[in-house]
Amino acid sequence: MNLKGKTVLVSGATGGMGEALAKQCAQEGCKIALFARREEQLKILCKQLAKKTSCVYKKCDVTNPNEVKNAVLFTQKKFGGIDIALLSAGVLMPNPIETINSSIITKSMQINFFGNVYFIEQLMPVMKKQHTGTIAVVSTLPDRRGIPGWGAYGASKAALSWLMESLRAEGKQKYNINFITIKPGSVETPMIEEYHRAGAISPEKAAAIIIKGIKRGKKVIQFPLSQVMMIRLGDLFPVAAYDMIPVEMQKGDGFPNPEE
Ligand SMILES: NC(=O)c1ccc[n+]([C@@H]2O[C@H](COP(=O)([O-])OP(=O)(O)OC[C@H]3O[C@@H](n4cnc5c(N)ncnc54)[C@H](OP(=O)(O)O)[C@@H]3O)[C@@H](O)[C@H]2O)c1
Repeated sequence: MNLKGKTVLVSGATGGMGEALAKQCAQEGCKIALFARREEQLKILCKQLAKKTSCVYKKCDVTNPNEVKNAVLFTQKKFGGIDIALLSAGVLMPNPIETINSSIITKSMQINFFGNVYFIEQLMPVMKKQHTGTIAVVSTLPDRRGIPGWGAYGASKAALSWLMESLRAEGKQKYNINFITIKPGSVETPMIEEYHRAGAISPEKAAAIIIKGIKRGKKVIQFPLSQVMMIRLGDLFPVAAYDMIPVEMQKGDGFPNPEE
């Protein structure tokens, strides 16, 4: 896929990966529509990108279906269509067993899962009418097995990966819409700055891998390779062996102490 001249909608555009994706899409000659909650940061980024290409922005909280609807309408109105949606908005909230409560799980689902569901719901009619389009959603690499302390996040991303996988074949065969699941390992963004993650890559490198994957027509874009191999190997562990991995090792460095 040649990206030049394409209209790209980016959610989570004020964050590490969303921002890097917006910048690199602008370099490719795409027209960009930016969305997130922090309006001032959207304005600064948009001003920067407008030196290279057409760029618009609007505040959008993905937990609000009306704001998501307005984001899609706004992009359509400004640019006449939407070729690619890069949906990167997300939050990471630890929930150790001591703090298990429905509020953390509900919030994670509202942002990481339903935030994307609302976008897909609004984008589908636009792309169906165009008879083409690409919806690329950021899930996570460990989307198949539970990890102690990260149940809320993992559940929201596993649900998202499942939904995307379910939509992919039907979307392509019936409407020529590409559903791409992006599954990053560790990326050095504000989201994980409190946690030390060995082998984390920069958001710029992550964005470059994602854009290369989209151009090549990949359906699942997972990276970095060393973490893909490790996680997918872990997916094959028998349950008894998986459960013997020390809990603290699975939670990772920087996991908050529930006593504090
Ligand atoms: N970093 C990693 O290692 C890693 C690994 C796997 C997957 N991911 C996923 O990658 C995506 C991007 O994360 P990142 O690492 O770039 O994190 P980040 O720097 O924290 O960025 C998160 C973005 O999501 C936006 N956001 C959060 N809640 C929102 C809401 N209610 N409505 C609208 N926007 C919202 C934030 O913008 P505002 O605060 O301005 O709204 C921000 O732009 C996320 O989906 C994350 O789960 C990250």
